Amino acid sequence: MKIVVIGGTGLIGSKVITRLTAHGHDAVAASPKTGANTITGEGLAEVLSGADVVVDVTNSPSFEDQAVMDFFTTSTANLIAAEKEARVSHHVALSIVGVERPSDGGYFKAKAAQEQLIRDSGLPYSIVHATQFFEFIGGIADTATDGDTVTLPPVSFQPVAADDVAAAVARTAVGEPVNGIVDIAGPEAGRFDEIVARVLESRNDRRRVVADPAAPYFGAHVSERSLIPEEGSPHGEITLDAWLEASAK
Ligand SMILES: NC(=O)c1ccc[n+]([C@@H]2O[C@H](COP(=O)([O-])OP(=O)(O)OC[C@H]3O[C@@H](n4cnc5c(N)ncnc54)[C@H](OP(=O)(O)O)[C@@H]3O)[C@@H](O)[C@H]2O)c1
Repeated sequence: MKIVVIGGTGLIGSKVITRLTAHGHDAVAASPKTGANTITGEGLAEVLSGADVVVDVTNSPSFEDQAVMDFFTTSTANLIAAEKEARVSHHVALSIVGVERPSDGGYFKAKAAQEQLIRDSGLPYSIVHATQFFEFIGGIADTATDGDTVTLPPVSFQPVAADDVAAAVARTAVGEPVNGIVDIAGPEAGRFDEIVARVLESRNDRRRVVADPAAPYFGAHVSERSLIPEEGSPHGEITLDAWLEASAK
């Protein structure tokens, strides 16, 4: 099976390529670095030729509200058009748990717009909804930092290792389209501020983490269950402690 991974040079994409290749699939990484660009359209027809499945794990180079909206809507529309030309039979995209819940955050709105384009495309599809990656927690702390204080809402948080996300995406890509959502979260839930504090502490980062229910997450106001999946949803194997230990080596 030829599976093209758009964004195959990124954090999740490169792990998806490794997994699919190990399972004997013809997995092709596509991104501006390999000459395929979903914004300009350059190289798309060539790389999609003969593809059975397309996995979209691209990300916007800018997280500014309008830039991220422009990126995901343009990129997804161009990709869908190219997939139809190439007669691709399964579109898989990676999105975020909670994106279907109304949000005032620009990034969440852009991912919701991406999902709507996919649902309206007529292509058989599967959307994987992941919680926040362990690898992203340092970046979350940075965007919530003022001086040496990190301020975050004390809501439920169930982050996941990028390896577990990549496994879920690869599994979905080789399965039948679900024409809906597949969730993946980490094996443990905790409080947002406490988990971020644990990660900073493990790195001897001296910033203080403060809980404030009114603090936004990436510009979005979140409530107790905004960032976590429904109870009983599928989860990965890698705990935060195991990941911290492995990433300290
Ligand atoms: N971070 C989280 O906690 C989280 C949680 C849930 C879901 N997600 C979703 O996960 C997805 C992947 O995230 P990631 O962290 O793996 O991203 P990443 O490491 O930043 O990689 C982004 C990829 O997108 C590619 N790309 C950028 N512009 C492109 C374009 N015009 N055409 C084609 N490819 C382009 C990049 O290619 P080059 O290498 O060539 O620049 C790179 O391969 C995102 O859609 C994000 O919304 C993230």
